[in-house]
Amino acid sequence: MAAISFARGAPAPECLDQALIADCARAALERDGTTILSYGTGGGYEPLREVLAEQHGVAANRVFVTTGGLQGFVFYAAVQLALRPGRVLVEGPTYDRPLKILARDGVEVVPIAMDDEGLDLDALEAELERGGDISFLYTIPTFQNPSGRTLGTERRRRLVEMAAQYDLPILEDDPYGRVRYDGDPVPSLHELEGGQRVTFTSSFSKTVAPGLRIGYFVVPDGLVAAYDDRAVSTYISPSLLPQATVFELIDREAFVPNLDRVRGLLKARKDAMLVALAAEMPAGTSWSSPEGGYFLWLDFADDVDAAALLTRATDAGVTFVRGSDFFPNASAGRSSARLAFSYETPERITEGVALLASLL
Ligand SMILES: Cc1ncc(COP(=O)(O)O)c(C=O)c1O
Repeated sequence: MAAISFARGAPAPECLDQALIADCARAALERDGTTILSYGTGGGYEPLREVLAEQHGVAANRVFVTTGGLQGFVFYAAVQLALRPGRVLVEGPTYDRPLKILARDGVEVVPIAMDDEGLDLDALEAELERGGDISFLYTIPTFQNPSGRTLGTERRRRLVEMAAQYDLPILEDDPYGRVRYDGDPVPSLHELEGGQRVTFTSSFSKTVAPGLRIGYFVVPDGLVAAYDDRAVSTYISPSLLPQATVFELIDREAFVPNLDRVRGLLKARKDAMLVALAAEMPAGTSWSSPEGGYFLWLDFADDVDAAALLTRATDAGVTFVRGSDFFPNASAGRSSARLAFSYETPERITEGVALLASLL
């Protein structure tokens, strides 16, 4: 029996509608095959760029559809660091892959504290006041990876004001915002700010299928030429067939019904995990209670070493990701874990949480 994975930040196999995606791919090829099967522009499949541009209220040349959101992050970091060399501010904790990319490139990364309502803006202000060159702030304000936390609307407004006051470029990474189970939507930083300091990115990995590898970036006017240059010199154009497939999904109005189905499947998993944690975890353990997304953050009692626990848990048949993986140089998170509820069935989630609790 495969281990119960609370490590995989991927949608459950049931979320992937193979028949629908196959049908959309066929329709896209029949409709626009010669374009799709040729080289395109660096920015991606034009009809998809146009739809996304309309959703975000910008011109289509500001939308870059990339081979997954992470590829676009590589572009953004390269372009922004060349334009404005300096340290990169991130949430502590934050998505581990950008940390690895920035570490590989020798960039100084400074984690800013968070609380239950997301980024601590007083801590951010103190860092901005410290002086020295800052390249950009990377933030995942909605259903954050790894914590599941969401930045409140008031804080969003203040953050946008601070960006203007300190001339701070922001990369707003939002692959989970549409995967909401409870509560009301919050405005994006991008819409609050107007999109000249804030670059917005999202992805179809969490709403349709990660294997399609479609992310997109809405960049300020000033970054358009540099982004285009990165894209063209990296892959000439990204793979157009998956992009045209997603365009077809949106165009035939199947995106939202598919998203509703995915949300239903994942909400049941989130609820199963919260119920199991409340029933099983010993006193001294606490966790976040996200209204959407794929993850929650678990703080064990201070004397628990999450790395040692992970070794024992893996032997017992349940996995998670250590909290320290989400901080630069593993500088914090020693007694914490990220649990993904997105991948396993509710039954296996209940079983996995009980197994994990039995090891504490
Ligand atoms: C916060 C965040 N950003 C970006 C991505 C990248 O997704 P993809 O490269 O699949 O589009 C992920 C995937 O886990 C993520 O959690």
